[in-house]
Amino acid sequence: MKVILLAAISVDGKIAQSREQNSTDWTSKEDVRFFVEKSKEIGALIMGETTYQTIGRPLKDRTIYVLTKNPDSQVSKKGIVFTGGLLQDVLKQVEKDGFSSVLIAGGASVYSQFLKEGLVNELFLTVEPYLFGQGIPLLTDCPFFSLEFVSVKPLNQQTLLLHYRIPSV
Ligand SMILES: NC(=O)c1ccc[n+]([C@@H]2O[C@H](COP(=O)([O-])OP(=O)(O)OC[C@H]3O[C@@H](n4cnc5c(N)ncnc54)[C@H](OP(=O)(O)O)[C@@H]3O)[C@@H](O)[C@H]2O)c1
Repeated sequence: MKVILLAAISVDGKIAQSREQNSTDWTSKEDVRFFVEKSKEIGALIMGETTYQTIGRPLKDRTIYVLTKNPDSQVSKKGIVFTGGLLQDVLKQVEKDGFSSVLIAGGASVYSQFLKEGLVNELFLTVEPYLFGQGIPLLTDCPFFSLEFVSVKPLNQQTLLLHYRIPSV
């Protein structure tokens, strides 16, 4: 199972100005397009309950695995799987459902947990031209990693898409 972390960040490394903020409120249309294309290509996304609340609906042609401590109390919806427990078990569940790769789609707590457990193989970071000054950082807690640079691509005149690999996984 290939595990790919995907995030849009401000130049000062934030993923949102507040918990309630939806990423599409501030990211470029080119980044939204990249997110849609990549997530459709992979088919499966894992995200935390808070991030899911900012989207609030299933995404066409994709399965969202929403991490929550109370999966049984959630109302089920087509395309949404409420799950929890060990991250390794969640990945096994995604694999069992027929996916060979999965996108880790945030937020900060979920990015941090997957990195901390050494489960991430690749990162795609879209850098948007803002300084938020305050807000939610990309990571809340993360060990040291030396990343392998793969590519940088301008998505438009202001926005860069960075691609890295984590070599030791
Ligand atoms: N810029 C970007 O690319 C990007 C991407 C994603 C998110 N965001 C932003 O990030 C913010 C949210 O981030 P966040 O760190 O506050 O929240 P989050 O990671 O989205 O969600 C945290 C919640 O997920 C559940 N959870 C997390 N890990 C779990 C585990 N191992 N097992 C069971 N449940 C687990 C818990 O929900 P329960 O309380 O239900 O148990 C927890 O309260 C939002 O503002 C969002 O817009 C930005």
